[in-house]
Amino acid sequence: MSHQNPLVLTLQDLETEALSAIRAAPDAGALEDLRVSYLGRKEGRISEILRGLGGLEADQRPPVGAEANRVKDVLQQALKARETEVASAGGDSGAGIEDLTLPARQRWKGGVHPVNRVVDEIWSIFRSMGFVRARGPEAETEWYNFVALNTPLDHPAADEQDTLYLRDSALLRSHTSPVQVRTMEKYEPPIRIIAPGMAYRRDSYDATHTPAFTQIEGLVVDEGITFIDFKATLAEFARRFWGSGTKVRFRPSFFPFTEPSAEVDVKRVITKKDGTRGESDWIEIMGAGMVDPNVLENVGYDPERYTGFAFGMGPARIAMLKYGVPDLRIFLQHDIRFLSQFTTGRAP
Ligand code: PHE
Repeated sequence: MSHQNPLVLTLQDLETEALSAIRAAPDAGALEDLRVSYLGRKEGRISEILRGLGGLEADQRPPVGAEANRVKDVLQQALKARETEVASAGGDSGAGIEDLTLPARQRWKGGVHPVNRVVDEIWSIFRSMGFVRARGPEAETEWYNFVALNTPLDHPAADEQDTLYLRDSALLRSHTSPVQVRTMEKYEPPIRIIAPGMAYRRDSYDATHTPAFTQIEGLVVDEGITFIDFKATLAEFARRFWGSGTKVRFRPSFFPFTEPSAEVDVKRVITKKDGTRGESDWIEIMGAGMVDPNVLENVGYDPERYTGFAFGMGPARIAMLKYGVPDLRIFLQHDIRFLSQFTTGRAP
């Protein structure tokens, strides 16, 4: 056999190149572009070769012409097959089994528990006022939980009826106030702390009580801290948390570790059912007071030089008000239908 016309090889290269381009074409538009560039009447590269057949030696025309027509057929068939494929796959470039319009499965993201959200919010308000965070152990001694806090052991709070004892004089702290003592023992004033944590009491389990609950303790001690600092700080907190129209009231009360003591109530601006603005009832949000000089003395501070105030609140109670939850137990039952309202994802 004499030499093969180089056009035959060119045609075979074009065939390989075009076939792989057709297989990779993502949609009908891309296929049409390929059809034009290989088989288009004016500029198609196969068509060009066919048009030039007349200029070849007579004996070269049949083999080149036959090869050109074969490649043309192959490409036409490949274009058609790929066209059907992309049409049924909705434009997908894969094997045609994926449905790209199917929404992605949402992942379960979890979320911050509503009580912890309230803790975070309260903490961030105090942080912006210059407080730092403190913590202490949940298993405590009588000294930290009662005695250092000016609460004699024959006080009803220290009774086994109210406090969960572990063994001997070890107990589960019945409030977060022992963190006050631990902090003052360790650091010199000025003190400005927020201490969120669990507290435990021998209590019933009902709509408004649980034996284990979260508290947030606050303590400020420095030279020259007065009742005015106390009132202003807590009123500022309440207005930041509930809004600037919130009214704050300090009601005389008693705690062994503060003197004078108060219970702090708020009256919130609310939107009533008929859409008009109104005020809520007074709601108690915390116990508080000026730190009793005996407590300062117990931790080795000079009560002539230093004064301070302290407060303790129950974020679960505040979360009940904030989210309209009527029963504390809902916070502890891990019902995914309730908790999923506080996530950004979706329940599985
Ligand atoms: N520890 C008190 C309680 O649990 C609250 C409190 C804290 C009161 C700090 C005054 C000062 O009821």
